[in-house]
Amino acid sequence: MNGTNYELKRATALTRERAWEFLTRYNSDDFHLRHAETVEKTMRYFARELGFGCEEDYWGIVGLLHDIDFEKWPSEHCVRSQALLKELGVDDSINRAVASHGYAICTDIKPEHLMEKILYATDELTGLLGAVVLMYPSKSAQDLNLKSVKKKFKDKKFAAGCSREVIERGAEMLGWTLDELMERTIAAYQSFEK
Ligand SMILES: [Fe+2]
Repeated sequence: MNGTNYELKRATALTRERAWEFLTRYNSDDFHLRHAETVEKTMRYFARELGFGCEEDYWGIVGLLHDIDFEKWPSEHCVRSQALLKELGVDDSINRAVASHGYAICTDIKPEHLMEKILYATDELTGLLGAVVLMYPSKSAQDLNLKSVKKKFKDKKFAAGCSREVIERGAEMLGWTLDELMERTIAAYQSFEK
């Protein structure tokens, strides 16, 4: 059995239903739950898009759980999650991937797997896209375009909580230009948000 299949077998031992149960055990804020689902859908999109369709559930679960500790323990983000997920019996590869999205912010666990790099690069960016959509009179993701996203990206006061530094570092990790990351993430976002 090759590594990928083995990883998939272990990872899918955790169902989406069970992961959702874990998430809602520690999160009740609607904004956090919606963000978790947005990142989940983004991860699923990129798994398919980048040729990892057979690992789609695995990528999605990492997205769903990535901020599991943030609502209750914001000052221990990505550190508390490691103990918590271990306690819940969640697979080490999922645990590691979750912690790696805090690289150079709150952990020193570097994203290595392509899936981890996608999580790192799109977590903050999808937040920015959501804020840009709210600026449109239509409130429709279908109106998203690279030009307006770049304009808002440069305006540091706009959606100030979305770290531009993390987005740039994420693009760099992927070996993509910032424009490419934005264009592809806009396409992801439009695939599930109307
Ligand atoms: Fe997040």
